Amino acid sequence: MPAKDLDQIVNLCKRRGFVYPSAEIYGGFRSSYDYGPLGALMLRNVKDAWVRAMVQQRDDTVLIDAAILAPPAVWEASGHLANFTDPLVDCTACKQRFREDHLDDPNVCPGCGAKGAFTEARAFNLMFKTYAGPVEGSGAEVYLRPETAQGMFVNFGNVLQTSRKKPPFGIAQVGKSFRNEITPGNFIFRTREFEQMELEFFVPPAEGPQWYEYWCNERLNWYVGLGIPRDMLRLRAHDADELSHYSAGTSDVEFMFPWGWGELEGIAQRTDYDLTQHANHSGEKLDYFDQANNERYVPYVVEPAAGATRTMAAFLLAAYDEDEVGGELRTILRLHPRLAPFKVAVLPLSKKDTLTPLAKQIHRTIADRYMVDYDDTQSIGRRYRRQDEVGTPLCITVDFDSLEDNAVTIRDLDTTEQVRVPIASLMTELYQRLGF
Ligand code: GAP
Repeated sequence: MPAKDLDQIVNLCKRRGFVYPSAEIYGGFRSSYDYGPLGALMLRNVKDAWVRAMVQQRDDTVLIDAAILAPPAVWEASGHLANFTDPLVDCTACKQRFREDHLDDPNVCPGCGAKGAFTEARAFNLMFKTYAGPVEGSGAEVYLRPETAQGMFVNFGNVLQTSRKKPPFGIAQVGKSFRNEITPGNFIFRTREFEQMELEFFVPPAEGPQWYEYWCNERLNWYVGLGIPRDMLRLRAHDADELSHYSAGTSDVEFMFPWGWGELEGIAQRTDYDLTQHANHSGEKLDYFDQANNERYVPYVVEPAAGATRTMAAFLLAAYDEDEVGGELRTILRLHPRLAPFKVAVLPLSKKDTLTPLAKQIHRTIADRYMVDYDDTQSIGRRYRRQDEVGTPLCITVDFDSLEDNAVTIRDLDTTEQVRVPIASLMTELYQRLGF
């Protein structure tokens, strides 16, 4: 039973330290969020799971980490200065601004209900501009990147030279992007500062269509493999009028959010658009010489581009559940163990000094391999509930018998089943149960 209502997740995130409104003590800063102790761990797990699938488990991709600030020349060449715009309308009655393409009725203001009160739409560039160095003004402008992708294109030549890869191969990156969204909203779904996980996969031009199909399937399966039910996901091909300025074809992986289908990731056929643009603007050759066939070509690009923060919201919504244990209602996050902030919690049955040294020693041993919580406050029932609510797959109880039999009790989040395990085989047991 996934969350039906976004507020169930928003409240849980605030209550348990996943996500806070940014600058809350000053009333919040609309459209930005801070990731708390558990959210920071989970967001890192989402990104790690992506890097694991897209880089670690493959032999045809590499990872880079490019700068967030980039000079106008990059955005001139990429087309973002001219084309990365949303159509903006102002309501002359209530003065609110809206994205024209997000209006239910292009004649009716959703703010005040006024009819026919909108100004003509104007193109609003979504990039954040700032200035490098002490002097503001022309010549000092820089832009916060609105996508991580351009870092891969401008480094194509460097990576080709230093990594011994040849097409088909990919350059991956995970990091922050910034867009001055006109209508941010729906919690961390659409924010002005967010994180992306993008792969630019360079292929011989004739292989573009087959790799596009390959990546559409591969990416859909990534979400399923990490626990999102298949029926909450779909692949949707863009209509021609939806395509970005660089795309010859895009499909979105969409998730059934409480308000309807929403994009998690776009898989785009960027063709040779970006490399050609950067080659023309920079004067550098950005192509590949295929020695086997004695031909030089500009690779085509297939780009799976996902949002880490937005995807985290989807994982939380899909994992949310409520059930009854011993006549008591419990909230539970059925997160995939790889995504759960803590894999294990160590819970000494009593705070008494006699149990603490053993419990702390077990904690230290587990911490060497897994992110593990330690909680010795309140009743054991309350502590189980707390771990259930944040998706900790396994709880380990250290009790007075542990001092005699050198064993502990492992409790499983899903089944609430408890088994006694010798401390000597605890790490093997955890490995078997977590799957890693
Ligand atoms: N390089 C291609 C690109 O950036 P995009 O569809 O604009 O494509 C890719 O963005 C993904 O980044 C989206 O599918 C979404 O998950 C995430 N994303 C984009 N804008 C976002 C925003 N304002 N807030 C949160 N995530 C966003």
